[in-house]
Amino acid sequence: MKWWQKGIIYEIYPKSFYDSNGDGIGDLPGIVTKLPYLKELGVDAIWLTPIYLSPQVDNGYDVADYRKVDPMFGSNHDLERLIEQAHKNGLKIILDMVANHTSDQCVWFKESKKSRNNYFSDFYIWRDPKPDGSAPNNWAASFGGSAWTYVPERRQYYLHYYAAQQPDLNWENPLVRQYVFDAMRYWKAQGVDGWRLDVITQISKDLSFKDVKGLPGQKYVPLKNTSGPHMHQFIHELNQQVLSPFEMMSVGEAPNSSIDEILKLTAPEREELDMAFSFEHMRIDKAAGKHGEIAVKKPDFKQLKDVLSKMQTELADKAWNALYFENHDRSRIPSRWGNDKEYRYESATAFATILHGLCGTPFIFQGEEIGMTNPTYSVDEYEDIDLKNKYQEQVEEKHLLTTEEFLNIEHKIARDNGRTPMQWDTSPNAGFTQGKPWYKVNPDYKQINVKVDIASKKSIFKYYQKLIALRHQEDILTEGKYQEMMPEDKNIFAYYRVLENKRWLVVVNMTDRQIESDQVKDLIKDYRSVILHNYKSKEISATLAPYEAYIVQK
Ligand code: GLC
Ligand code: CA
Repeated sequence: MKWWQKGIIYEIYPKSFYDSNGDGIGDLPGIVTKLPYLKELGVDAIWLTPIYLSPQVDNGYDVADYRKVDPMFGSNHDLERLIEQAHKNGLKIILDMVANHTSDQCVWFKESKKSRNNYFSDFYIWRDPKPDGSAPNNWAASFGGSAWTYVPERRQYYLHYYAAQQPDLNWENPLVRQYVFDAMRYWKAQGVDGWRLDVITQISKDLSFKDVKGLPGQKYVPLKNTSGPHMHQFIHELNQQVLSPFEMMSVGEAPNSSIDEILKLTAPEREELDMAFSFEHMRIDKAAGKHGEIAVKKPDFKQLKDVLSKMQTELADKAWNALYFENHDRSRIPSRWGNDKEYRYESATAFATILHGLCGTPFIFQGEEIGMTNPTYSVDEYEDIDLKNKYQEQVEEKHLLTTEEFLNIEHKIARDNGRTPMQWDTSPNAGFTQGKPWYKVNPDYKQINVKVDIASKKSIFKYYQKLIALRHQEDILTEGKYQEMMPEDKNIFAYYRVLENKRWLVVVNMTDRQIESDQVKDLIKDYRSVILHNYKSKEISATLAPYEAYIVQK
């Protein structure tokens, strides 16, 4: 077993975690202050979203200098101190490598855009305009609009899968790969233990640059831009040049990847990545807007079971799962799939039980461990460039949605839902900062914060503590075989974990209704020993209360 197979990884969004100097922005010294908190929770590693120098167009996912900590977070020295203190506390540090693109303020890009024949010219993806002067093709950027922006100095367009300020690197150029690998080695030398690799499945482009077919009237068409022709080759090289020689853990972000692709990325003998974040299970409440606009539907929990179970089964003995429900691009689970009012505790712990009972490495996003919720902000209270661009395009320009419809959707799925400041206590700004927070604190912070949660009889934090401790103590949770039970049921998630002659049963009601189930009755017949249960004073039975969850053994 590797440390990351037995471990639990906690994701920190530094800007919103804890502000140590009153400028309203969370920072590295702030994280050092909170290490005892993470120790108490019991996690094994911290993944920091990007802390490098950045104009913050996409909250740090637009890197201007890979070797420099942005002054808003502190100094390189502060990061060294954080690594040192974390290690002293037995916590590993995972950084985020954003290598599909840089910021347009990165010196590589500033040079590249100057001319067609300098040292950096081929660091990015430049193409001539079509004869009529328009973009080389009809590809859409993820954050809306065309994926191409024109630069007069070169009389060419450059490609950007995200915002125009995030030009895509040209991985076909061996120099680009060397520069990226060198930056990673630099941080290894500072003691970093591993990497989360941002949209790593997009680094290899479809070199034909052909137009793609879209919906009628669609000017720019989103393309399936993952798993390009050289992706596996580039990732294998990254593995051989950096990850393997320096024994660094890796988890790649893999939007759109099928299970087969995830297997290729993570099967150890292929020497690519340790783990990959699949997106499929997060699509159970996404709908297809007729004209490409954002849309949601009621979560389909049968689909959640199918997707997660398939992943468990297909990766078993072949590769290792990365398990998550929340992160900085996702909203809060009690608000999204559960009930963030009368069953906040129950629904937060129910989904936590499903996730942490599975085989793989669980990732917890800051605030998830206290059941933080989605705020219901107005349009101008959002910060995210993705949301803002989509609002402009889909509501203001194309009138595909009204403001109200747009907000109803974003209140469920906006990325900003997870990015509000961490709620520590009942003091002003939830104890996140002594100054003015960079981003509005969720107004529910007086009821929902670390201090109140830990003191409460129904503490989500304490439930997480137990889940984490169980994973550390019980090999069945890391090594046990997964077996789904009652797969046809739409509301109840039930599965076994089996190791030698030990067998655990996980049962979770994913609805806000009481459910009586004969199948559960059969399942729990001889299972009388309770390992974990989110209804303290209730007996284990086949009548499941709203969001009731338990783990039992014979
Ligand atoms: C990843 C990040 C997201 C970012 C995008 C572009 O999906 O998680 O926050 O906007 O990549 O870098
Ligand atoms: Ca600060």
